[in-house]
Amino acid sequence: MSDRYGTFVQSPVGNKIAKNLGLPLPAVLDRFELGQKLVRGSVLFGAASGTDQSLSQSIARILVDVHAEVYASDAEDVQKVLAEAGVETKSATGHDEKYKVLLFDASNIKTTDELEQLYEFFHPVARQVAASGRVIVVGRPPESCDTIEYATVQRSLEGFVRSVGKEFKRGITAQLIYVEQGAEANLDSTLRFFTSARSAYVSGQVVRIGTGESVDVDWTQPLAGTTVMVTGASRGIGEAIARVLAREGAHVICLDVPQQQADLQQVAGQISGSTLLVDITADDAGEKIAEAAKKRGGLDAIIHNAGVTRDKTLAKMDEKQWNMVININLASIAKVNQYLFDHDVLNEHARIVCVSSISGIAGNLGQTNYATSKAGVIGLVEATAKQLADSHQTINAVAPGFIETQMTAAIPLAVREAGRRMNSMSQGGLPIDVAETIAWLATPASGGLNGNIVRVCGQSLLGA
Ligand SMILES: NC(=O)c1ccc[n+]([C@@H]2O[C@H](COP(=O)([O-])OP(=O)(O)OC[C@H]3O[C@@H](n4cnc5c(N)ncnc54)[C@H](O)[C@@H]3O)[C@@H](O)[C@H]2O)c1
Repeated sequence: MSDRYGTFVQSPVGNKIAKNLGLPLPAVLDRFELGQKLVRGSVLFGAASGTDQSLSQSIARILVDVHAEVYASDAEDVQKVLAEAGVETKSATGHDEKYKVLLFDASNIKTTDELEQLYEFFHPVARQVAASGRVIVVGRPPESCDTIEYATVQRSLEGFVRSVGKEFKRGITAQLIYVEQGAEANLDSTLRFFTSARSAYVSGQVVRIGTGESVDVDWTQPLAGTTVMVTGASRGIGEAIARVLAREGAHVICLDVPQQQADLQQVAGQISGSTLLVDITADDAGEKIAEAAKKRGGLDAIIHNAGVTRDKTLAKMDEKQWNMVININLASIAKVNQYLFDHDVLNEHARIVCVSSISGIAGNLGQTNYATSKAGVIGLVEATAKQLADSHQTINAVAPGFIETQMTAAIPLAVREAGRRMNSMSQGGLPIDVAETIAWLATPASGGLNGNIVRVCGQSLLGA
């Protein structure tokens, strides 16, 4: 589906008209391309002063691994941590070129007075962020802080990050990463995702990293040697997920309904994957998935993407429309998961990723059935995450906002245009944006992520 307005404002005339009329100015977003550097520009790193350097140390090691060009303040603590990790640092003093990434370790901010350090770091460089830049704040989960004031100010970081996401424009994203004490080594996959172009359409998110076990991976192909199942893989977001996971090295079993056989075979053929034709609401769906998975030594990930809409206001909705949406979008996931757990189909570090929706967070006119199903997906993920806490398996969800697919092409024009623009990026996302986010959650290196609901919505105003 083409975004004609988005294309128009890229032209000099269109840009001028949009500016004069105060209309949204969607930027062309950087997107990941094979062979490109992970961080396409320089990083400005800073940290609040304090005694616990463990998060900064972990960040510094990752910056070395990704060969980032790092600038830092002359503060003694920061210089010491970077030098110890072997980061070759340039001084930020007097540097007036744009940074691609502003990265701040706020974990030592424990009092309201110390919140000033956030201002001191970001204020001078607020206009110095490149297009499609990244603002990342790292802190400690408020629920694990040992004083009320520490919990309070760590929670404050959320308001800061979400506001920056709305203020900075030009495709710049802002995220908050809470890292549990002892989970510092699990930061790697998340920092790589958020500093790179892979997170193009993810902004204003709060992610929690826990102490779950991660597996070391080869970052050029983090899913090498794995087998993953993607439901609804014949088109749209599911097709993009299958393609990205294959690009990352996975063997993908592409599942869809028998009517989609031709499209499904085409996708699977192009990525050297395999196909499984089954309706996920069928009584034997779990069994068939298990059978196909066991032939390949079990599943390292399953992506529950298949979903449908049957939009009608509640008064006009018939029972069939209600039941169909609940069954496909929610009940089938619960049933399949239960079957896979009961029959030991998921491997030791298996990742389950569900596709929810911002409708499940904010609700939506004409979508009582859909929003019920997608809110249920969030409930399912949160409850299952608790059950998996003592294992090495994880479950997380993505909640896409407006993504350009056949599903959103069917929305009436005025509603579609509103949906597209009502976010910090002033544009719809692409299926690949959801797929990249899922690839991050699905890697064996993401063992610290369990129970997260990550919105891929360009920081939509809905349910924000
Ligand atoms: N497009 C968006 O803007 C958007 C926003 C939020 C969430 N989502 C969610 O993303 C997912 C994919 O959406 P999409 O836009 O790519 O939709 P789509 O309609 O293009 O693709 C959905 C796929 O699921 C398959 N499917 C449907 N019922 C099935 C069943 N019973 N068994 C097996 N496969 C089945 C379809 O055949 C199709 O291939 C859905 O869960 C959807 O709710 C989409």
